[in-house]
This record gives sequence, structure tokens and C-alpha cells, in this order.
Amino acid sequence: MMRKVTTMKITVINGTEKHGVTYRMKEIFLERFRDEADITEYYLPKDCPNFCAGCTACFLKDQHLCKDAEYIQKIEKSLLEADLLVFTSPAYVFHTTGAMKAMLDHFGYRWMPHRPAKEMFGKRAVIITQCLGAGGKSTAKDIKDSLSWWGITTIKVVSFKLMADIDWNKIDEKKKAAFRKKLSAVAEKMRAIDYSKPGRTGLAVKAKFYIIRMMQTGLGKQDPEYTDFKYWNENGWIGKTRPWK
Ligand SMILES: Cc1cc2nc3c(=O)[nH]c(=O)nc-3n(C[C@H](O)[C@H](O)[C@H](O)COP(=O)(O)O)c2cc1C
Repeated sequence: MMRKVTTMKITVINGTEKHGVTYRMKEIFLERFRDEADITEYYLPKDCPNFCAGCTACFLKDQHLCKDAEYIQKIEKSLLEADLLVFTSPAYVFHTTGAMKAMLDHFGYRWMPHRPAKEMFGKRAVIITQCLGAGGKSTAKDIKDSLSWWGITTIKVVSFKLMADIDWNKIDEKKKAAFRKKLSAVAEKMRAIDYSKPGRTGLAVKAKFYIIRMMQTGLGKQDPEYTDFKYWNENGWIGKTRPWK
């Protein structure tokens, strides 16, 4: 019998459009996948250029009512279809770029207390951040917070401190070799995964799920037409079905 070969899909969300250090690091990480994966990249703010206006239509009614739905739904489809998600960002004042934060805000409705996508449970993600001296870890946390509240357990963070030059062409070759070694090692680890099987859903994500399930059950008793409750109920999560396998 012929074995069905499916191409691995990777979706990359770049927190900056600049072809600087973040870009070079992401390119090194992707080198290992270039020949075998179908890679889709988004650059921010170009591919998600507007801020969330706080209208709350996505939370209360339907995400397609968002004024930015054309951008958000395109990115969401790509995130849901991917086997591996890659997020990149330099540190800007100890945090992720405003462009990345603006995009993540638009996905507030996918946080677990609202309407998480079942495809996210069991997905794998890598976050690559770097900074001059400090703030790389808190930058990664800004992104990780969203990913884990979307339901993802397997999130690998790779963070670098440049400590001297911030221009890639001026960075010492020894230092570049060390960056390359670490990025390639993480890429190898992610390549070794069998993507035909979903990743493990860990205790922290499960605990969040059960607390919110209790909350949604209560909200549903007050108002069975409440958007988030209806979504949880239709997915069978108020009953015995779970989003993880
Ligand atoms: C607005 C802004 C804020 C920054 N804030 C920090 C910071 O908090 N900590 C830090 O170590 N570097 C900070 N930097 C430096 C960048 O993180 C660093 O230069 C990084 O290598 C830039 O990546 P890029 O070449 O991909 O743009 C900041 C740079 C900018 C433009």
C-alpha cells in the first residue's frame, strides 16, 4: 500500500517587517525546513495593520463582524492549518513589538474563557526573540501568554541577548555561530516530531479548561443564548467531549 505523504505546514508570524537580526534568526531556524515544508509567512504590521478598536463584536457576537476580519480570518486560517507555528519578535521596551501585540489583541476571542479553536490543542509552537541587553524573555512571555490561553501546550522559547552590535553585518562571527547552533538544535528537535499525531495537552492547559468549563456551565444556566456558552456546548465541552486527543 502506498504511504500517504503530506507536506508539513509552517505558519510564521514576524513581529517586525525589518530584515534585521530577528529576520536573520528566523531564516536560520527555517533553513532546516525549507526543502520539506510548506511555509507561509506574515509580516507585521503589513499583514495586520490595524489596532483592535474594542468594539467587542468578536466576543459578544461573531468574529466575522470585526472591521479587520479580512486580515484576522486569513491569518487564523493559516494558524489553524499549520503543524508548527513560529512567532518572532525583537524586544521593544521589554515587550513584544506593538505590531505583534496589536495582532494578538485581535485574537482575544480565541482565549479559552471565550471560544478557543479545538485545532490549537495539540499544536506546536516556537517563539524566537532577541534583544540588545534585557527584555528578551518578557518579550517571549507576551506571545506565550496568548498561545497558552489559545490552548497550546508545546511552546518552545528561544531567546538571545546580543550584548554588543545590533547590526547583523557587524555581529561577531563567533557569536553568530553560537546563535546558529542554538537555533539549529531547536529546529532539529521540532523536525523530529511526528506531526501526524497531536501534541500532548499539559496539566496547566487542562486546569484552565476545567475552570472555564465550570464558569461556562454557570453562564449557560443564566442565559443559554450566551455566545461563548453556546460555542462550548455545541463543541460538546460542557458534556464529555474534550478539545484534546
Ligand atoms: C523601540 C525600541 C525599543 C527597544 N527596547 C529594547 C529593550 O527593552 N531591551 C533591549 O535589550 N533592547 C531593546 N531594543 C533593541 C532591540 O531589541 C535590538 O536592537 C534588536 O536586535 C532589534 O532587532 P531587529 O534587528 O530585528 O529590529 C529596542 C529597540 C527599539 C527600536
